[in-house]
Amino acid sequence: MLDTREDAITRTVLDRMQTTADPRLRRISEAVVRHLHALVREIEPTQEEWRAAIDFLTRTGQLCSDTRQEFILLSDALGVSMLVDAVNHRHPQGATDTTVLGPFYVEGPPPFENGADLSGEMSGLPMLIHGSVAAADGRPLAGAVVDIWHADDQGFYDVQQQPDMRAGRGRLRTDADGRFRCWSVRPVSYPIPHDGTVGAMLELQGRHPYRPAHVHFMIAAPGFEPLVTHLFVSGDPYLTSDVVFGVKESIIVDLIEHPAGRAPDGRMIATSFAEMSYDFRLAPARSRQSA
Ligand code: BEZ
Ligand code: FE
Repeated sequence: MLDTREDAITRTVLDRMQTTADPRLRRISEAVVRHLHALVREIEPTQEEWRAAIDFLTRTGQLCSDTRQEFILLSDALGVSMLVDAVNHRHPQGATDTTVLGPFYVEGPPPFENGADLSGEMSGLPMLIHGSVAAADGRPLAGAVVDIWHADDQGFYDVQQQPDMRAGRGRLRTDADGRFRCWSVRPVSYPIPHDGTVGAMLELQGRHPYRPAHVHFMIAAPGFEPLVTHLFVSGDPYLTSDVVFGVKESIIVDLIEHPAGRAPDGRMIATSFAEMSYDFRLAPARSRQSA
């Protein structure tokens, strides 16, 4: 007879999984069972609560489509995405800190020359974004691919306004000195999509759905780990309570505020504008420790 008494069921289930051929999958399956059973022992859910939990996950799945991923949002809002990021980026000293990718990256962003304006139809005050890409030891990296994307002054990404719209995003390449430069608009803080199960969870937890103002960067160069990060705008009221726990001190930057007039790159700007800059450092490829 199988022993399915309360104190024996976990061992019985774990024993049944010993036939899993792939050792990594066996380890993961065992951990899922051990942690799930521990959760039930700790919470002692009623049958009704367990049905509600399954209903929550069912509705989360039903909200997922080609343009919406509620499970990633759930992972983000529970801090799991940042934990996965952390265990995968135990970088050597000197490499730029990483953070979440988020759901608004679009494969194959429009290419731009250095110095171009990638804001398209986006609204907002102009912002000069520039910086450099180097190895962790400071060696400049020429030809690195720098993908940039961000929200507008209403807190919306291009693809939230129209799926085919491309604005406030683009791909640059660093020059011979490892430098890149473009114009766009200054983003503001914004709420993550909160009209679904994740929004309902945040409300029940008494949490707001906001992320502090930021610009996303994905930087790639041969021989280096791809860097997925943001630059956060200092002074933002949500820096200490980012709904997805993505803020790290080292990637908060002070914007330089400029009056209308000639910009550092020689361009004449008719309104006041901001300047954001950062020197990124990439970790060597395969420097990750195994999780
Ligand atoms: C974002 O910054 O684009 C983002 C990250 C996580 C969840 C939702 C949005
Ligand atoms: Fe974002």
